[in-house]
Amino acid sequence: MIYAANFKANHTRKSTENYIEALNAKLGAKKAEDKVYIFPPSSALDSYEGDFTVGAQNAYPTQNGAYTGEIALEQLDEFDIKTILIGHSERRELLNENQENIVEKFSFFQEQDFEIIYCIGEPLNIREKGFESVMQYLLAQFEGIDITYAKLTIAYEPIWAIGTGRSATVEEISTTHRALKNVIKDIPLLYGGSAKPANIKEIASIAGVDGVLVGSASLDAENFSTMILS
Ligand code: PGA
Repeated sequence: MIYAANFKANHTRKSTENYIEALNAKLGAKKAEDKVYIFPPSSALDSYEGDFTVGAQNAYPTQNGAYTGEIALEQLDEFDIKTILIGHSERRELLNENQENIVEKFSFFQEQDFEIIYCIGEPLNIREKGFESVMQYLLAQFEGIDITYAKLTIAYEPIWAIGTGRSATVEEISTTHRALKNVIKDIPLLYGGSAKPANIKEIASIAGVDGVLVGSASLDAENFSTMILS
C-alpha cells in the first residue's frame, strides 16, 4: 500500500520537523513493501531523513524565473525533491488550473524524470448524474496526460468526499477503481477523500485500491501512523 500525506496549507517548518520525528519513531514497524509520501507546504520543504519520500504539492513548470508567488525546479533541486502532486482538485477549482496548464506541468516534470501523483476526481453534480457521466468526466482529465509514464501514480479523489468527513462508499470506490484500472492498467491507483483511521482497513481491502492520499487525517502524525500500521 501507498500512504501519502497531503498537508495542504497546514503545518509550519517547525511543526513539520516535529511531525517527521514522531512519524519516524513509528515507521520502523511498517511493512517493508508499504511506501509513505509526505507533501508538506513549500515553506517546509527540506532534505528530511527517514523511510518516506518528500514531495512538492505544486511547482511552476520551469527551471526558475519571473513567476511571482511560485516555486520552480531550482527550489526543489535544493532539497533533491523528485516527486510532485499534479492536478489536485483544489488547484483546479480554487487556483483555476485548467487541463492545458496541468498538461504543461505534467510534461515538464515528466521530462525531469519526477515521480508524479496525478489527481483526478468528479464534483457532486457529476456523480449525481450517474456512473457514465462520472467516467466521462474522469477520462477527460487524462487528456494530454501520458498514462503510460513509468513514474506515474493516479489518485482518484471524488471532490465531494474531500475534507467533508464523508468518504465514498466501498461500492463507489470499487466500481470507479475497476473502471479506471481498465484504462491505466498497471499504474498504481490511490483513493483520496476523507480516508482516516476509522475507514482505512475497509478502503485498503477494496480491489484496485493501491493506496490512499490523505488530507485532514494525515495532519496528526499519530493518526497517520495508525493508518499506515493498521
Ligand atoms: P481529505 O483530503 O483526506 O481531507 O479528504 C484528501 C485530499 O485532498 O488529498
